[in-house]
Amino acid sequence: MKIEIKDLQMTYKGGQEALKNINISLKSPSLIGLLGPNGAGKSTLMKLMVARLLQTSGSISVDGQKLLGNEKYIKSKLGYLSQDFGLYDELTIKQFLEYMASLKGIGRNLKEEISKVINATNLSEKKNAKIRTLSGGQRQRVGIAQALLGNPELLILDEPTVGLDPEERVKFRNLFSESAKDKIVILSTHIIEDVQAICNRLIVINRGCILFDGKPQELIRMAEGHVGVCEVEKDKKDVIEKFKVTSRVFTTRGMQYRIVGKELPGYAEIVEPSLEDAYVFLMSKEGIHNESVCINNK
Ligand SMILES: Nc1ncnc2c1ncn2[C@@H]1O[C@H](COP(=O)(O)OP(=O)(O)OP(=O)(O)O)[C@@H](O)[C@H]1O
Ligand SMILES: [Mg+2]
Repeated sequence: MKIEIKDLQMTYKGGQEALKNINISLKSPSLIGLLGPNGAGKSTLMKLMVARLLQTSGSISVDGQKLLGNEKYIKSKLGYLSQDFGLYDELTIKQFLEYMASLKGIGRNLKEEISKVINATNLSEKKNAKIRTLSGGQRQRVGIAQALLGNPELLILDEPTVGLDPEERVKFRNLFSESAKDKIVILSTHIIEDVQAICNRLIVINRGCILFDGKPQELIRMAEGHVGVCEVEKDKKDVIEKFKVTSRVFTTRGMQYRIVGKELPGYAEIVEPSLEDAYVFLMSKEGIHNESVCINNK
């Protein structure tokens, strides 16, 4: 599968410009992580890709066909978890999945398909429980299960790991990574470890612009030399005020800070950046880009 997004722009009815000028091409197999602060435009981009919204200008094509006018074709190949998905509280998990499968037009192998996604999302014990009796994380897993129905070629997951406990999060990461072997999987998240662990491509969005599009390792490389640690005495905290602090640990003499900045002070010991440091560096005003500098803009 191939997806081409060209000069995509989206302004909501009230005048809120959510995406400025997005250009992305995607090809299977790949697992893409979408990172960006609240309101960056991640969900808007995903909704446009699944034809839940209509863009103001630009185009999206899937396997050479324009999305507009071919929504049925695309939807037959799509699994989507929206950030604010609704579930039918009075149905059991199994009934809900049967209903979703019928909407997706899955007729053949319905039973096997449903037990496959129930097993994959670790919901076997709860399959006959009503949705209203589920915990937050279990509901989230039902949302993921419906997205997996029919083994779609394109899987778009808006914050799929929200509310999952650490063990489940690791399991789901592995499941997404496994799924991505023959698919395009796009997931948005605020959890940098999710991206670090499984994504082979990272797209960072801020204020409707793409700030970075590449391998997570490339973003880390861009922050090399811009991350340091230093120990600061209690009464001299102002020396690190102009830097972004990504961690702080109490020590006997004061505090040890991990700082990120374009130019670090001589007393900081330069260390290897983590993906989180690199993200903070990118987002900081003095980083590689700032909000007025978008890549992919023409
Ligand atoms: N239905 C809507 N009507 C008007 N403006 C909207 C609507 N939905 C989103 N927006 C605006 O569009 C911008 C992008 O929102 P979007 O939901 O895409 O962000 P996001 O990156 O998914 O954020 P989050 O991390 O909080 O989920 C925001 O400024 C938001 O206020
Ligand atoms: Mg969102």
